[in-house]
Amino acid sequence: MESNHNIDMNNINNSFDQYSYNNDIIVTPWEVLGDLEDKTYIKLIEKFGTQAISQELIEKIKKLTGEIHPLIKSQYFFSHRDMDWLLNKYENGEHFYLYTGRGPSGFIHLGHLLPWLFTKYLQDKFGAKLLFQITDDEKFLYNLGATKETISKYTSENILDIIAIGFNPDLTRIIIDTKHIHHLYPIATEIARKITFSTAKAVFGFTNTTNIGMIGFPSIQAAPCFLPSIIEKTPTPVLIPAAIDQDPYWRITRDIATKLGFYKPAQIHSKFLPSLSRDSKMSSSRPETAILTTDEPEIVEKKVLSSFTGGQATISLQKKLGGNADICPVYDYLKYFFDDEKESLERYLRCKSGNLLCGECKSDLVNNTRDFIIEFQRKRDEAKDKVNDFMFE
Ligand code: TRP
Repeated sequence: MESNHNIDMNNINNSFDQYSYNNDIIVTPWEVLGDLEDKTYIKLIEKFGTQAISQELIEKIKKLTGEIHPLIKSQYFFSHRDMDWLLNKYENGEHFYLYTGRGPSGFIHLGHLLPWLFTKYLQDKFGAKLLFQITDDEKFLYNLGATKETISKYTSENILDIIAIGFNPDLTRIIIDTKHIHHLYPIATEIARKITFSTAKAVFGFTNTTNIGMIGFPSIQAAPCFLPSIIEKTPTPVLIPAAIDQDPYWRITRDIATKLGFYKPAQIHSKFLPSLSRDSKMSSSRPETAILTTDEPEIVEKKVLSSFTGGQATISLQKKLGGNADICPVYDYLKYFFDDEKESLERYLRCKSGNLLCGECKSDLVNNTRDFIIEFQRKRDEAKDKVNDFMFE
């Protein structure tokens, strides 16, 4: 089998402690700490050994889809592995699968939706089948305070959000780990046999006090990377759209793929949507600083109005010095969800020049988000009747 057996820049066997960077940024699948500025993402590309999305790759995507998606233009998706390889395969008639997932630890917030909306876009453009993994096992093992009941509740709730995104039911299958484990386990054991504890420690930061379920879990998240080849009975390329904190999983998966006779999974990585307090990524474990898809419109309004902004302390200072859109979550949400490119640039310039006050941006965000959430909740309600259409058998 011809494979994408290029050498990853950062071979996992000779790089240690990949989960922390100079101790000021920590990015693991379970924890993201540090300042989420442009510099950080450039460092992550270096640290993880991924590729920046080049102009050449953008041209290639444009050639195949006829356009450049706004989340690529705005560099919300900023990094990849082997996406160029995958598109070459596609051009040569090899269809790829999409694979993404969700750990059901809480309700869904806006930050989760961006990669999912982008995944749906890719599904529509490329007619790609999608596997959507729900890692209820991971969340149970990781969060020792969580009960099976809570995780099961979030599993059902989160599935409604996934369906509300509008994925094509003929092309999409949701895999719940504890329910569909019999499909994953045969592949997971093959994967697990090839990965040592010392590699897992270096990549994920496991320690002697990590429970053994967590240590073995990466093989379960890796399994859907190879499942398409088994379903299709032929080597099948896979593209994973996800935030970059999931990259450690794909690094170990890529390292063993060829040994097992599979293609390495390709990825396209997004940034994190900052929380409304901007001190970290948006997280449903701190619901007061995240806009949840289940929030009532009044709650959305309250959250947005009390958001951190890049504004000055007083109106006169704002007029004199201008605001700092570069660190403003309100600006970011408007940019990634609601403003087009031109509107976003105008907003940026008006803010910087002191001609735009935070109140106006907040009110734009409240209005847009309210409409968006009301519509999303309508689709979420409709999803209740569609769950079976999306389930893996
Ligand atoms: N571990 C992810 C989380 O905690 C869930 C997940 C499973 C996932 N498979 C994935 C995310 C593939 C992105 C892509 O949310």
